Amino acid sequence: MRILGIETSCDETGIAIYDEKRGLIANQLYSQSNLHSKYGGIVPELAARYHLMKIVKLFKKSLLQASLKKEDINGIAYTSGPGLVGSLIVGSLFGRSLAYALNIPSIPINHMEGHLLTPMLENRSLTFPLIALLISGGHTQLIKVKNIGQYEILSKSIDNTVGEAFDKTAKLLGLNYPGGPKLSQLAKFGIPGKYKFPCPLIQSGLNFSFSGLKTYAANIIKTSNNDYQTRANIAYAFEESIIKILSVKCERALQITGINNLVIAGGVSANLKLRKTLYKIMYKRKSKIFFSNRKYCTDNGAMIAFVGMIRLRKNFCNKLIVSIKPKWSLEEIK
Ligand code: KG4
Ligand code: ZN
Repeated sequence: MRILGIETSCDETGIAIYDEKRGLIANQLYSQSNLHSKYGGIVPELAARYHLMKIVKLFKKSLLQASLKKEDINGIAYTSGPGLVGSLIVGSLFGRSLAYALNIPSIPINHMEGHLLTPMLENRSLTFPLIALLISGGHTQLIKVKNIGQYEILSKSIDNTVGEAFDKTAKLLGLNYPGGPKLSQLAKFGIPGKYKFPCPLIQSGLNFSFSGLKTYAANIIKTSNNDYQTRANIAYAFEESIIKILSVKCERALQITGINNLVIAGGVSANLKLRKTLYKIMYKRKSKIFFSNRKYCTDNGAMIAFVGMIRLRKNFCNKLIVSIKPKWSLEEIK
């Protein structure tokens, strides 16, 4: 069985093919980030138009990569939420229509479930129950996962997501969108201890708050000379504070629930320093940690194809309707 996965929830057009026996056999991605960077963030209307321009080309390329004909595909999984309305409509309509034309099932996928299960993409089985830290541009959540499809949201951010905090602070430091990886790169040259950022909400509970970090950075920038070293010092202290908050909250979630397994997923989970820190913490407390290959942390079609495969095995496919869900909580997945 081979599943085509289509991801268009934000500014990445991702098309992939997952083969039940061979695993991932095609993975095509077009990132619009250069296009949006001059506007300092994603312009939803442009994102939708670019998905439209790229999607057919990427589909053909993925068939070529896997040496398949379109008739060799057995099911089509597409992201139907959460995400930007226009972007979701492009991928969902393309996926549903193609499935109709080929007379095969189509499977609407929750983007965050795609992120959550990515560590399984390359044949690593997850140990359930687990706590998932989902950290992306659109979400910051701790999820209790009893098993695939059984999700309970334990907490979320009360203001900015971690990805937003990275991107907004990076912008203040003169770095282009998406700023997360660039800020992290700059932080490598920072001198420890030059600044100490606050860690909002760290004392208790599982919810997050990140908007204050951006304001804190803005205040330093206003009153300093902003040479390269100062900006690197700010980036270092910012990243340090984020990692501390995320680590404390993960440990607390494990403690409260008595669970011993942690997944980190979503774009920000590509952050190397965060991965290393959490790995050490989990090693010390003899708990298991799972994350995906870094190239699958940010948005991609592979994770959607993979979840599509799991859901099709459970016979979960949709009728001749296309319904997108710009807001779609993991708890609402059937
Ligand atoms: O999962 P994703 O590709 O898109 C959403 O579903 O939102 O996540 C994108 C976010 C952006 O905010 C980007 O700056 C951040 O992930 N990101 C990083 C790193 N790589 C990507 N943040 C910090 N460090 C990184 N290495
Ligand atoms: Zn994402």
